Amino acid sequence: MEEYKITTRSDNETIAIAQNIESEKFPNMVICLNGELGSGKTVFAKGFAHSMGIDEITSPTFTIIKEYTGGELPLYHMDVYRLEDSSEDIGISEYFDKGGVTIIEWADTIKDILPKERLDIRFKITGENTRVIILNPHGEKYNSICEAII
Ligand SMILES: Nc1ncnc2c1ncn2[C@@H]1O[C@H](COP(=O)(O)OP(=O)(O)OP(=O)(O)O)[C@@H](O)[C@H]1O
Ligand SMILES: [Mg+2]
Repeated sequence: MEEYKITTRSDNETIAIAQNIESEKFPNMVICLNGELGSGKTVFAKGFAHSMGIDEITSPTFTIIKEYTGGELPLYHMDVYRLEDSSEDIGISEYFDKGGVTIIEWADTIKDILPKERLDIRFKITGENTRVIILNPHGEKYNSICEAII
């Protein structure tokens, strides 16, 4: 499937991408974020959450899974950086079909248990305020979302 590449030049431009994707959200949507430390995964997740009407997003680093129910759909924000691998599965996969939207930072860590249909997003730092964002849709539904928002 095709890859979609976008360059952003500020937090706000990354947030705008998140908002565009949010506008295409659906129950059981799964978004997998990867990319080095400080590349913008949390900026994206917060932008997405804000667009859903959820404001109090905190970094889930120590909790792994945070559930927000204040928006139009539940949002499950995960940061699996601290998991060794998917063998440490702590019920993560149960979230994928609970009817909400799942956003996973460092998703590659648990790639064995990710659903086949999902949106992979990779962040690359290319300068102090520039990021290359690569959208990799898996499945027709996610592909049309990418086409719609680009
Ligand atoms: N174009 C941009 N898009 C997103 N963030 C940017 C951009 N330019 C600069 N930044 C800065 O980069 C940092 C990104 O931090 P963020 O917490 O989102 O990274 P992260 O990928 O979640 O890191 P971690 O792996 O530690 O969780 C922020 O300080 C943000 O202000
Ligand atoms: Mg983060």
